[in-house]
Amino acid sequence: MMHPCLFIIFSFLLLLLEATTANQLVSVGDVNNKFFDVERRALLDFKSHLQDPNGSLSTWTAEDDDDCCTWRGVMCNDQGHVTQLDISRNNLNGTIHRSIGSLTQLRYLTLSYNSFYGTIPQEFGNLNNLQGLSLGYVGRCRVENIEWLSHLSHLEDLVMDGISLAKANQWVNVISSLRNLSWLSLDGCELSQVMYPYSSSFLNSSSSSIETLILSNNNLTSSMYHWLFSLTSNKLRDLDLFGNTLDGIPINPGNLCTLTSLKLYNNPMLINLPDFLYNFSRCTSLRLTYFYASDSEFTGSLSDDIQKISSLRYLYLSGNHINGTISEKLWELPELTSFDLSQNSLSGAISEKIGNSGAIIIKLSKNPLQGVPSIDHMSNLSYVESLDLNSCKLGPSFPKWIQKLKKLTYLDISSNGISDTIPLDFWDMWPSQLRFLNLSSNNISGEVPDLSLNFDNHSVIDLSSNSFNGPIKNVSSAVALLNLSRNKISGGISFLCQFVDGFLEFLDLSHNSLTGQLPDCLWHFKELKVLNLGNNNLSGRLPASIESLFKLEALYLYKNDFYGELPLSLKNCTSLNSLNLGANKFSGNVPVWLGENLSGLYALILSSNNFFGTIPLQLCQLPNLQILDLSSNSLYGTIPSCLNNLTSMVQQGFLPPPNVHPFTTQWYHSRSAHPDIIYEYYVDHAMIEWQGDEREFFRNLGLLKSIDLSSNNLTGHIPYEITNLFELIALNLSKNALVGEIPRNIGQMKKLIALDISRNNLAGGIPSSMTQMTFLGYLDVSYNNLSGRIVSSTQLQSFAPSRYDGNAGLCGLPLSKKCLGDEEPVIGKSEDDGEDEFWGWFYIGGGTGFAIGFWIAIGALLLNRRGRHAFFQFYDSFKDWVYVKVVVFVLKLQRAKYT
Ligand SMILES: *[C@@H]1O[C@H](CO)[C@@H](O)[C@H](O)[C@H]1NC(C)=O
Ligand SMILES: *[C@@H]1O[C@H](CO)[C@@H](O)[C@H](O)[C@H]1NC(C)=O
Ligand SMILES: *[C@@H]1O[C@H](CO)[C@@H](O)[C@H](O)[C@H]1NC(C)=O
Ligand SMILES: *[C@@H]1O[C@H](CO)[C@@H](O)[C@H](O)[C@H]1NC(C)=O
Ligand SMILES: *[C@@H]1O[C@H](CO)[C@@H](O)[C@H](O)[C@H]1NC(C)=O
Ligand SMILES: *[C@@H]1O[C@H](CO)[C@@H](O)[C@H](O)[C@H]1NC(C)=O
Ligand SMILES: *[C@@H]1O[C@H](CO)[C@@H](O)[C@H](O)[C@H]1NC(C)=O
Ligand SMILES: *[C@@H]1O[C@H](CO)[C@@H](O)[C@H](O)[C@H]1NC(C)=O
Repeated sequence: MMHPCLFIIFSFLLLLLEATTANQLVSVGDVNNKFFDVERRALLDFKSHLQDPNGSLSTWTAEDDDDCCTWRGVMCNDQGHVTQLDISRNNLNGTIHRSIGSLTQLRYLTLSYNSFYGTIPQEFGNLNNLQGLSLGYVGRCRVENIEWLSHLSHLEDLVMDGISLAKANQWVNVISSLRNLSWLSLDGCELSQVMYPYSSSFLNSSSSSIETLILSNNNLTSSMYHWLFSLTSNKLRDLDLFGNTLDGIPINPGNLCTLTSLKLYNNPMLINLPDFLYNFSRCTSLRLTYFYASDSEFTGSLSDDIQKISSLRYLYLSGNHINGTISEKLWELPELTSFDLSQNSLSGAISEKIGNSGAIIIKLSKNPLQGVPSIDHMSNLSYVESLDLNSCKLGPSFPKWIQKLKKLTYLDISSNGISDTIPLDFWDMWPSQLRFLNLSSNNISGEVPDLSLNFDNHSVIDLSSNSFNGPIKNVSSAVALLNLSRNKISGGISFLCQFVDGFLEFLDLSHNSLTGQLPDCLWHFKELKVLNLGNNNLSGRLPASIESLFKLEALYLYKNDFYGELPLSLKNCTSLNSLNLGANKFSGNVPVWLGENLSGLYALILSSNNFFGTIPLQLCQLPNLQILDLSSNSLYGTIPSCLNNLTSMVQQGFLPPPNVHPFTTQWYHSRSAHPDIIYEYYVDHAMIEWQGDEREFFRNLGLLKSIDLSSNNLTGHIPYEITNLFELIALNLSKNALVGEIPRNIGQMKKLIALDISRNNLAGGIPSSMTQMTFLGYLDVSYNNLSGRIVSSTQLQSFAPSRYDGNAGLCGLPLSKKCLGDEEPVIGKSEDDGEDEFWGWFYIGGGTGFAIGFWIAIGALLLNRRGRHAFFQFYDSFKDWVYVKVVVFVLKLQRAKYT
């Protein structure tokens, strides 16, 4: 390490040498090697303090004749001085070494997007030729004394995103002194922790040249306007303040009148929109073209003052609390190109002025808006290409006014209470090619329309959840996503054979009345990823051409009359991760190749078929399997003890399949041709049966880890290995011929919410480990040969006595039969069964145990965000089954306590 003084002297000498060489015009090669060795060494020194796992700096070597100007990321001037250094996005880890300070001729330095840590060295102050310094997201770095920055007087662009300036409390003064600075980005710099002494002299600094100022994610409050205006001047164009805590813009926006772009989104403070617009409208001239304030807390109406901002092109105010009607003036803004007011409380009719609107993209979804009341005076000159009115109130009549929008290529009027037929001329009207049509979740009736129209390649049609009837006739081969599920469609599906090398990726025809066979013409569906034909009346064997669906990820054929053995050709569908063939008439053995070839499977549902034979051990080879349902078949033999090889049921976390998770729409998003358009589409859900009760799981199916082997002819013991499936949430082994005892460690499956082992021949006692199963919300051990005392826990006594029926030897609560030596159990008297369970539980649990256990469990889930999200998704699926029951108990408990 060089002493700082030596370093400075050395740098000085270097400068001197440099001047001399320039004057003497000596042969460049030699001199470079000798004197610019200092810069080369500085770079090597810098490198030596780094880990470079990707070898990005492998060209930076200490070979004698190596010219550092040829190194990766290094650029030199004619004299051989390093003037630019760009080593961004190289996965470098380590401290930023101060040797960089000797590259005094540097003009541009970019270290962004690496994993540096520590402080930014003071020696950066020697780089007084710098015009651009980019330290954005360099890693976990901080600046403690920012004085060095004031030496970089030529600086024009400065990016310090993600660097902590919490201790650099002079930064406002220092930055105000950089007279040529035009771009300043301080995203996430912990600026809020800096104290700014208010000084009126700041406000007068009109000479600042900053044009772009990014201060996002700093938790700044409106008090920052005091110093903000010392940084800005009448040159400011772009101001980005998102992710702060601002409660408005200053009464006199003054300096903000020059803005062309203002970003305030994600701001948690209430701001009155009319006041805000009024303040802006007082500027004598406005140039604002881009106003982005989504997901904030704007209240009040979109007032007529919007007209004063006549330069506005992009207006994004989705996810606020804006109410009232939309000002007519909005439609008249001459430059408006795209606006998003979705997820507010806007009401009233949509103005017929939409017919002359110059806007191309309009999003008004999730507002209680009604359609255009009369089309008599509506012009058809609009430029609207994309109209999103999802979840508004356009119904009950079909919104015919939409046909006046002659340039539409994207239309979403789903969930609008439309109870009508589609006008005949609707399908003729499209002069341009449709890309996206979503009419789903209305009550639209009439025959399935002819879909062979003017569709653009890779287009999307969603007519699901309506009342369309009749057969499907023609569908354009240009379609990528077709959803006709949940209608009253009948007839066969031979229309599929019309597709010739199309783009179809997603086909959902489930929940209709389709008949006939799956035609043997699947050769043309090379792109198909999701095929859902569930809940129809289809029959026949699966065609051999199914082998060409090698991109297929989800195949749902549940609830039909398909029969025969599973064709060997299905083996070729190696991308499958979700296979639901439940409730058909498939027969034969459960194929071993399911385990050997379809290794990505995470849901395998073969329930309610005619499969027979033993459970193949190869199923244990499916590391991602989270749902295994073989219930209601004719399987015999023992439960494989290798089940604990099902990694994802043993290990925490949810392993999404390598490519696409069929229960999200990632793959679909990439399809949306327009970046402004994100279409939430849930591919499909799985149908899970439990106790003959069918549940549909929509999102986050991945969290449900369950095994259902019920209603077969399985024999032997419950393998103790099964208790290693720590992540299992539901286990159903009921209605078999299992013998032996309940595995003693069953209680270590602490996440089990539902356990059914009823109607077997199990003997022995209820293991005491079961007292640890605090989540258990459903238990059935009835009709076995169990005996002994039901161990007392907050949970086990809360179930109805019938869940223990048919076990002559069991005693203790909640059964009325007392165990030998016990006192008479106290059982509360009440009218219904639920009350019975409640009181029984209440007395035993002492009234607190259960509630505490419950809230601790919920608390644990609430702790991390992922868990919390997971919980609520999970809650949705199970609510009427487990949690509501629990909550009712808690409420009853409170009632009992306080009345
Ligand atoms: C560096 O390598 C890792 C894996 O070793 C890779 O994930 C990453 O993308 C690479 N980064 C760059 C910048 O090449
Ligand atoms: C960087 O290195 C430090 C110390 O060697 C280490 O703790 C850290 O995990 C590394 N970070 C990355 C992103 O590699
Ligand atoms: C600032 O920019 C002006 C105009 O480009 C230039 O003349 C002046 O030298 C610059 N000042 C500094 C300190 O770089
Ligand atoms: C943001 O500021 C508020 C009040 O000024 C404070 O309560 C809160 O803790 C701050 N949040 C962060 C993340 O610094
Ligand atoms: C808009 O919401 C405010 C409360 O935020 C309420 O006082 C006002 O009456 C509402 N206006 C309309 C037109 O609904
Ligand atoms: C089977 O899948 C492979 C890719 O995994 C594919 O190349 C092949 O064409 C498929 N076979 C048939 C008959 O489609
Ligand atoms: C289960 O895993 C173990 C260890 O990884 C392995 O030896 C065994 O063969 C596996 N069993 C089956 C049936 O896959
Ligand atoms: C179970 O096996 C018995 C005899 O082995 C047979 O009678 C019965 O039908 C089988 N049950 C089922 C559901 O396959």
